[in-house]
Amino acid sequence: MISACRRHFSLQAMKSIPTTTILGHEYEIDSMTNITPAIASRLHCKLLSQPNSPLALLWRRIQRHFDSRHPRVFDFLRHDDPIVTAKQNFDELLIPASHPSRSPNDSYYLNRKTMLRTHMTAHEREVMATGRKSFLLVGDVYRRDQIDCSHMPVFHQLEGVCIFSPDELLSREAEYSHLVGVIEKAIGSQVLQVEHDPKIVKLALADLYVTLHGLMKALFGDASRIRWQETFFPFTQPSTEAEVFYDNRWLEVFGSGILQQQVLHPSVLERDPNAIAWAFGMGLERVAMVLHGISDIRLFWSQDDRFTSQFSSQKEDTVPIKFVPFSKYPPICRDISFYLPTTSDFQPNELYEIIREIAPDLVEAVTLTDEYHDVKINRASMCYRIVYRSMERTLTDNLINKLQSELRERVARQLQVTLR
Ligand code: DAH
Repeated sequence: MISACRRHFSLQAMKSIPTTTILGHEYEIDSMTNITPAIASRLHCKLLSQPNSPLALLWRRIQRHFDSRHPRVFDFLRHDDPIVTAKQNFDELLIPASHPSRSPNDSYYLNRKTMLRTHMTAHEREVMATGRKSFLLVGDVYRRDQIDCSHMPVFHQLEGVCIFSPDELLSREAEYSHLVGVIEKAIGSQVLQVEHDPKIVKLALADLYVTLHGLMKALFGDASRIRWQETFFPFTQPSTEAEVFYDNRWLEVFGSGILQQQVLHPSVLERDPNAIAWAFGMGLERVAMVLHGISDIRLFWSQDDRFTSQFSSQKEDTVPIKFVPFSKYPPICRDISFYLPTTSDFQPNELYEIIREIAPDLVEAVTLTDEYHDVKINRASMCYRIVYRSMERTLTDNLINKLQSELRERVARQLQVTLR
C-alpha cells in the first residue's frame, strides 16, 4: 500500500479519511487499495512521448501504415492518464464479478472504485461517445504479474475499433467473398450475437482480417504468416486471436472480435441501431522486443544512452534496427525459503510486489525452485530463486546482501511466513 498517505479532515463529519495523492488527485484509501510507491512512480514516465523509445517508434510505424496503406481514415489517440473506474475497466465491458482479473491480486486499485487500467479496452466507450468511428488508441496498462524478462507490471497496448453500418459492409461483399472460408474457420463453433445478421458479421470479420493482415505485413514483412484461432473475451462475440510466425516461432499478437452490442456506447446505436463494430488489442512491448531483438523488457525503461541512442536513426519506413546488447553485467542469485502458515492462501504476486518495491529494475527473474509439504510440522515450504542483475552496472555483493536482508524482513512480516 502507498506509504505516503495524507490525512484529510472532513469538517462536516469531523472524522479523518486516509487519502493518497496520485497524479495530482486525492483518492480515499480503502481495503482494496494496493498501489505501491514503485508502481506510482511509473505513472510519471511516459515512454510513448520519448521520441527514441522503441515503443514510440512502433506507434509511429503503425500510424504511418494506417495513413498510407489503409483505405479507411483512422483517428490516432494516445491516452496518457491510466486511472479509470472499475466500472470502465470491467463492468461496462461485461467482465463478470467473479473474473480473476478483478481481484486485487491481479490488478492495482487506488480504492474499490478506482484503479489503474489493465487494458486499453477500458477507453473504447468514451472514444465512441465522441462520434469517432475508426480509431487506434495507445497507452500504458498495469497488471500485477510474475517477474521475468518478458513481464513487467506496466506495459503498453494498442487498441483498435471500427464501427460500420451494414450497408458499408455490404458494399464490400465482392471484395471479401474469398475470405468467408478463413473467417468461418477462425470463429469455429462460436454462437453469434442474436442482434446480428451472420452475413454482416462475416463481412465485419473479413474487414478485421484484412486490416490486421495488412498491419502484420507492415510490421513483420510481406512474407509473414498469420494464423487465427477462436478464443473468448467477455466483450466480444465471436472472439479470435491471431498469431504471427516470426523468428521460427508462433507469437501471439492480437486479441480481437466483434464487440458485444451492449459494449457499444448508447450514442452509437442512437445514430445507427444496426451499427456493428470490430475491435482488437495488441501489446506493444511484445512486438517491439521481437522486431528489434530486445531481450529484456526492463530495457524499455532504461535511460542509459547505450540503449536509447541505438534507436535515434530509426525511420518509420525502414527495417527495424536490431538492438546490439551492451555488455551484460553478471547476475547475482539469492534464494529465499520459508514455511507458510498452516492456513494460508499464499499468492506469489504478493512476493513479487515486495521484490519490486525493494529492488525496482534490479531483478531479472524470480522462479519457484522447490516446494514441498513438511509432514512433521504439517506446513508447506517454498523456495524462490531471485536473479539480481542490473542492465546498467555491475551489482556488488554488499548491495545485494542489504537488499536480500531487507527482503527477508519484509517477507516475514508482510506475508506472515517463517523464514528458513
Ligand atoms: N483487452 C484484451 C486484453 O488486454 C485484448 C483485446 C481482446 C482487446 C479482444 C480487444 C479485443 O479489443 O477485441 O487482453
